[in-house]
Amino acid sequence: MTTARGKFITIEGLDGCGKSTQLERLAVALRKQGMNVVTTREPGGTAIGEKVRAVLLDSRTAGLDPWAELALMFAARAQHIAEVIRPALERGKFVLCDRFTDSSEAYQGGGRQLGSEPVLTLHRTLCGGLQPDLTILMDSDVAASVERARRRNQQNPGQQHDENRFESESRAFFERVRGTFLAIAEREPQRVAVVNARRQPDPVSEEILGIVRERLLGSKETPAAGGRR
Ligand code: TYD
Repeated sequence: MTTARGKFITIEGLDGCGKSTQLERLAVALRKQGMNVVTTREPGGTAIGEKVRAVLLDSRTAGLDPWAELALMFAARAQHIAEVIRPALERGKFVLCDRFTDSSEAYQGGGRQLGSEPVLTLHRTLCGGLQPDLTILMDSDVAASVERARRRNQQNPGQQHDENRFESESRAFFERVRGTFLAIAEREPQRVAVVNARRQPDPVSEEILGIVRERLLGSKETPAAGGRR
Protein backbone atom coordinates (compact mmCIF):
# COMPACT_ATOMS: atom_id res chain seq x y z
CA MET A 1 0.00 0.00 0.00
CA THR A 2 1.34 3.45 -0.85
CA THR A 3 0.69 6.39 1.43
CA ALA A 4 -0.08 9.76 -0.16
CA ARG A 5 2.82 12.19 0.18
CA GLY A 6 2.32 14.56 3.10
CA LYS A 7 2.33 18.35 2.92
CA PHE A 8 5.32 20.59 3.43
CA ILE A 9 4.56 24.03 4.92
CA THR A 10 7.21 26.63 5.68
CA ILE A 11 6.87 29.85 7.68
CA GLU A 12 9.12 32.76 6.84
CA GLY A 13 9.65 36.32 7.98
CA LEU A 14 11.99 38.69 9.82
CA ASP A 15 13.42 37.88 13.23
CA GLY A 16 10.86 38.69 15.91
CA CYS A 17 7.81 38.67 13.59
CA GLY A 18 6.03 35.98 15.65
CA LYS A 19 6.70 33.00 13.35
CA SER A 20 7.40 30.44 16.05
CA THR A 21 4.16 31.21 17.92
CA GLN A 22 2.17 30.90 14.72
CA LEU A 23 3.87 27.66 13.75
CA GLU A 24 2.96 26.12 17.11
CA ARG A 25 -0.65 27.33 16.84
CA LEU A 26 -0.97 25.91 13.34
CA ALA A 27 0.41 22.58 14.52
CA VAL A 28 -2.16 22.45 17.34
CA ALA A 29 -5.02 23.32 14.94
CA LEU A 30 -3.99 20.69 12.38
CA ARG A 31 -3.56 18.01 15.05
CA LYS A 32 -7.07 18.79 16.29
CA GLN A 33 -8.27 17.97 12.78
CA GLY A 34 -6.54 14.60 13.01
CA MET A 35 -3.43 15.40 10.97
CA ASN A 36 -0.11 13.84 11.80
CA VAL A 37 2.16 16.89 12.22
CA VAL A 38 5.92 17.27 12.59
CA THR A 39 7.31 20.69 13.58
CA THR A 40 10.91 21.58 12.91
CA ARG A 41 13.19 24.56 12.24
CA GLU A 42 16.16 25.82 10.27
CA PRO A 43 19.00 26.12 10.63
CA GLY A 44 18.83 22.96 12.73
CA GLY A 45 16.21 20.25 13.02
CA THR A 46 18.73 17.40 13.34
CA ALA A 47 21.56 16.70 15.81
CA ILE A 48 24.15 17.64 13.16
CA GLY A 49 22.12 20.64 12.00
CA GLU A 50 21.82 21.98 15.57
CA LYS A 51 25.64 21.93 15.85
CA VAL A 52 25.85 23.93 12.63
CA ARG A 53 23.15 26.27 13.98
CA ALA A 54 25.22 26.93 17.10
CA VAL A 55 28.16 28.05 14.95
CA LEU A 56 25.95 30.18 12.70
CA LEU A 57 23.99 32.01 15.39
CA ASP A 58 26.57 32.40 18.14
CA SER A 59 27.58 36.05 18.33
CA ARG A 60 31.10 34.82 19.21
CA THR A 61 31.46 33.39 15.69
CA ALA A 62 33.60 36.16 14.22
CA GLY A 63 34.77 36.64 10.64
CA LEU A 64 32.53 34.05 8.98
CA ASP A 65 32.67 34.66 5.22
CA PRO A 66 29.19 35.18 3.67
CA TRP A 67 29.77 32.31 1.23
CA ALA A 68 30.81 30.04 4.09
CA GLU A 69 27.67 31.15 5.93
CA LEU A 70 25.55 30.23 2.91
CA ALA A 71 27.29 26.86 2.58
CA LEU A 72 26.66 26.07 6.26
CA MET A 73 22.97 26.93 5.89
CA PHE A 74 22.73 24.45 3.03
CA ALA A 75 24.81 21.81 4.82
CA ALA A 76 22.31 21.88 7.70
CA ARG A 77 19.40 21.89 5.20
CA ALA A 78 20.63 18.89 3.19
CA GLN A 79 20.92 16.88 6.41
CA HIS A 80 17.51 18.08 7.56
CA ILE A 81 15.85 17.04 4.30
CA ALA A 82 17.51 13.61 4.28
CA GLU A 83 16.92 12.84 7.95
CA VAL A 84 13.61 14.54 8.80
CA ILE A 85 11.66 16.24 6.02
CA ARG A 86 11.63 13.63 3.22
CA PRO A 87 11.00 10.63 5.48
CA ALA A 88 8.09 12.44 7.18
CA LEU A 89 6.56 13.49 3.84
CA GLU A 90 6.90 9.93 2.56
CA ARG A 91 4.95 8.75 5.60
CA GLY A 92 2.14 11.16 4.72
CA LYS A 93 2.82 13.66 7.52
CA PHE A 94 2.37 17.42 7.60
CA VAL A 95 5.81 18.99 8.03
CA LEU A 96 5.75 22.53 9.46
CA CYS A 97 9.16 24.14 9.17
CA ASP A 98 10.24 27.43 10.73
CA ARG A 99 12.35 28.89 7.83
CA PHE A 100 13.70 27.12 4.73
CA THR A 101 15.49 28.12 1.49
CA ASP A 102 13.57 31.42 1.20
CA SER A 103 15.47 32.54 4.32
CA SER A 104 18.78 31.81 2.57
CA GLU A 105 17.64 33.80 -0.44
CA ALA A 106 16.46 36.67 1.78
CA TYR A 107 19.33 36.78 4.33
CA GLN A 108 22.36 35.58 2.35
CA GLY A 109 21.11 36.47 -1.15
CA GLY A 110 19.51 39.81 -0.16
CA GLY A 111 20.91 40.81 3.24
CA ARG A 112 24.49 39.74 2.48
CA GLN A 113 24.04 40.68 -1.19
CA LEU A 114 25.20 37.34 -2.63
CA GLY A 115 22.25 37.40 -5.04
CA SER A 116 19.38 34.98 -5.57
CA GLU A 117 20.93 32.93 -8.36
CA PRO A 118 23.63 31.12 -6.31
CA VAL A 119 21.05 30.33 -3.63
CA LEU A 120 18.60 28.86 -6.13
CA THR A 121 21.41 26.89 -7.80
CA LEU A 122 22.50 25.43 -4.46
CA HIS A 123 18.89 24.59 -3.69
CA ARG A 124 18.52 22.65 -6.95
CA THR A 125 21.78 20.79 -6.38
CA LEU A 126 21.67 20.08 -2.65
CA CYS A 127 17.97 19.87 -1.93
CA GLY A 128 16.86 17.94 -5.00
CA GLY A 129 14.56 20.87 -5.82
CA LEU A 130 12.26 20.06 -2.86
CA GLN A 131 9.68 22.87 -2.72
CA PRO A 132 7.21 23.63 0.05
CA ASP A 133 3.57 23.04 -0.89
CA LEU A 134 2.83 26.31 0.89
CA THR A 135 4.92 29.10 2.39
CA ILE A 136 3.45 31.61 4.81
CA LEU A 137 5.40 34.85 4.68
CA MET A 138 4.74 36.88 7.83
CA ASP A 139 5.36 40.43 6.75
CA SER A 140 6.21 43.00 9.39
CA ASP A 141 8.12 46.24 9.84
CA VAL A 142 11.86 46.02 10.23
CA ALA A 143 12.25 48.24 13.29
CA ALA A 144 9.49 46.58 15.34
CA SER A 145 10.51 43.00 14.50
CA VAL A 146 14.20 43.34 15.12
CA GLU A 147 13.63 45.25 18.36
CA ARG A 148 11.34 42.44 19.56
CA ALA A 149 13.88 39.76 18.65
CA ARG A 150 16.66 41.59 20.51
CA ARG A 151 14.51 42.00 23.63
CA ARG A 152 13.62 38.30 23.49
CA ASN A 153 17.28 37.28 23.41
CA GLN A 154 18.30 39.72 26.12
CA GLN A 155 15.69 38.10 28.35
CA ASN A 156 17.46 34.73 27.83
CA PRO A 157 21.09 35.65 28.47
CA GLY A 158 21.83 32.12 29.70
CA GLN A 159 21.22 30.69 26.22
CA GLN A 160 24.58 31.82 24.89
CA HIS A 161 24.64 29.39 21.97
CA ASP A 162 21.24 30.56 20.79
CA GLU A 163 22.15 34.22 20.72
CA ASN A 164 21.42 35.36 17.21
CA ARG A 165 24.42 36.72 15.30
CA PHE A 166 22.07 38.19 12.69
CA GLU A 167 20.26 40.48 15.10
CA SER A 168 23.24 42.82 15.34
CA GLU A 169 22.94 43.59 11.61
CA SER A 170 21.97 47.04 10.36
CA ARG A 171 18.55 48.38 9.53
CA ALA A 172 19.60 48.44 5.82
CA PHE A 173 20.44 44.71 6.01
CA PHE A 174 16.95 43.86 7.29
CA GLU A 175 15.30 46.15 4.73
CA ARG A 176 17.07 44.10 2.02
CA VAL A 177 15.94 40.86 3.72
CA ARG A 178 12.33 42.04 3.80
CA GLY A 179 12.48 43.29 0.21
CA THR A 180 13.80 39.92 -0.97
CA PHE A 181 11.06 38.01 0.89
CA LEU A 182 8.44 40.20 -0.81
CA ALA A 183 10.11 39.71 -4.21
CA ILE A 184 9.96 35.92 -3.73
CA ALA A 185 6.24 36.19 -2.90
CA GLU A 186 5.65 38.21 -6.05
CA ARG A 187 7.63 35.72 -8.15
CA GLU A 188 5.83 32.64 -6.74
CA PRO A 189 2.31 33.66 -5.68
CA GLN A 190 1.02 30.09 -6.13
CA ARG A 191 3.36 28.91 -3.33
CA VAL A 192 3.82 31.96 -1.09
CA ALA A 193 0.99 33.66 0.83
CA VAL A 194 1.80 36.99 2.49
CA VAL A 195 0.20 37.57 5.87
CA ASN A 196 0.24 40.90 7.69
CA ALA A 197 2.07 40.14 10.95
CA ARG A 198 1.64 43.63 12.46
CA ARG A 199 -1.45 42.41 14.34
CA GLN A 200 -2.29 40.53 17.50
CA PRO A 201 -1.60 36.78 17.30
CA ASP A 202 -5.28 35.69 17.14
CA PRO A 203 -6.33 37.25 13.82
CA VAL A 204 -2.99 36.20 12.34
CA SER A 205 -3.53 32.53 13.30
CA GLU A 206 -7.09 32.60 11.97
CA GLU A 207 -5.89 33.92 8.63
CA ILE A 208 -3.08 31.35 8.41
CA LEU A 209 -5.44 28.47 9.18
CA GLY A 210 -7.85 29.79 6.55
CA ILE A 211 -5.06 29.83 3.94
CA VAL A 212 -3.97 26.29 4.82
CA ARG A 213 -7.54 25.02 4.60
CA GLU A 214 -8.19 26.69 1.30
CA ARG A 215 -4.89 25.89 -0.41
CA LEU A 216 -4.02 22.48 1.02
CA LEU A 217 -7.13 20.92 2.49
CA GLY A 218 -9.44 21.86 -0.38
CA SER A 219 -11.90 23.64 1.93
CA LYS A 220 -13.36 27.02 1.00
CA GLU A 221 -14.51 27.61 4.55
CA THR A 222 -12.35 30.13 6.39
CA PRO A 223 -12.74 31.18 10.02
CA ALA A 224 -13.82 34.65 8.83
CA ALA A 225 -16.52 33.11 6.63
CA GLY A 226 -17.70 31.24 9.72
CA GLY A 227 -18.74 34.57 11.22
CA ARG A 228 -15.84 35.27 13.57
CA ARG A 229 -13.27 37.94 12.90
P1 TYD B 1 16.37 32.13 15.07
O1 TYD B 1 16.84 32.37 16.47
O2 TYD B 1 15.70 30.84 14.74
O3 TYD B 1 15.51 33.34 14.66
P2 TYD B 1 13.99 33.42 14.34
O4 TYD B 1 13.30 32.97 15.59
O5 TYD B 1 13.80 34.83 14.00
O6 TYD B 1 13.79 32.48 13.16
O7 TYD B 1 17.60 32.36 14.11
C1 TYD B 1 17.64 32.03 12.80
C2 TYD B 1 18.48 33.11 12.13
O8 TYD B 1 19.15 32.54 11.01
C3 TYD B 1 17.64 34.24 11.63
O9 TYD B 1 18.25 35.47 11.97
C4 TYD B 1 17.68 34.09 10.13
C5 TYD B 1 18.95 33.33 9.89
N1 TYD B 1 18.92 32.45 8.69
C6 TYD B 1 19.65 32.81 7.58
O10 TYD B 1 20.34 33.84 7.58
N2 TYD B 1 19.63 31.99 6.49
C7 TYD B 1 18.92 30.83 6.46
O11 TYD B 1 18.91 30.10 5.44
C8 TYD B 1 18.17 30.48 7.63
C9 TYD B 1 17.36 29.20 7.65
C10 TYD B 1 18.20 31.31 8.73
